[in-house]
Amino acid sequence: MVYVNGRFVRYCEATVSIEDRGYQFADGIYEVIRVYGGKVFMLDEHLQRLARSAAAIDLPLPDLTALRRDALELLTRNGFPDSIIYIQVTRGACPRRHQYPDGLAPTVVMTARKMDMHPARFRQEGVSVISVADDRWARCHIKSISLLSNILAKQKAHKQGAFEAIYVRDGFVTEGTNTNVFVVEDGAIVTPPLTNYILPGVTRRAVLNLAARLAIPRREEPVSVDRLFAATAVFLTGTTTEVMPVVSIDGRPVGDGRPGPVASCLFEGYMDLAYREGEPVL
Ligand code: PDD
Repeated sequence: MVYVNGRFVRYCEATVSIEDRGYQFADGIYEVIRVYGGKVFMLDEHLQRLARSAAAIDLPLPDLTALRRDALELLTRNGFPDSIIYIQVTRGACPRRHQYPDGLAPTVVMTARKMDMHPARFRQEGVSVISVADDRWARCHIKSISLLSNILAKQKAHKQGAFEAIYVRDGFVTEGTNTNVFVVEDGAIVTPPLTNYILPGVTRRAVLNLAARLAIPRREEPVSVDRLFAATAVFLTGTTTEVMPVVSIDGRPVGDGRPGPVASCLFEGYMDLAYREGEPVL
């Protein structure tokens, strides 16, 4: 079952207009949320970010309480204990024109599907990444569905057998195509500060909070490319990526070329949180 504009419909029967501005212009926003063992994780953090994204693009977001209730119901109806829910809100359908009319009803679509798990060896052995120039616009803090740059960068990584592409802007790391980036220096974790050039990752925040609880020193400061390459360890965070150790960047080993203890400790802590803290839907 999927959700389209207030209705639960069968996947094969769900439709939206060809004139939807999401389809025509990528004029919309989204969220991706994980369900662990039948419990939806950090739903409110994601919904709050959806509301911030909506405000940032002048999109009247449908009532969040109703959206929250419908999201939970969609998860219950589908019944996948380990899954992801995708929420997309676009500006709505109207004849194609750049400016949009007042009072247009947004299109809300939600899907729930089984999580496609990363192979366990990724976590055990670590993954490789490439670096790419950050050629995106200057409003990356908005979780916009306009992801062409991210798609092209991810595909470039994929073609080279790499897991992720890390964006670099003016000599500094911003983020991955769908992840935030952390480096480990002398046992402390360091991640770029929140600016308009990165998405304020929900997982990033959870990992920073977790580090505080585990007494792992943490800093939010600019990370130059030199620092990235000189780090003892590097890891990625994201809703679908969780905490993923990086062992090679552009073919050069990170530290001793093996996953470090800090990322694995944070991964375990994060998993523990995920299975304990979510809101039950099954
Ligand atoms: N992406 N940076 C970017 C550009 C992202 O698209 C994402 C998430 C993140 C990590 O944010 P969070 O921890 O809140 O998931 C960082 C989602 C998962 C996606 O597009 O699939």
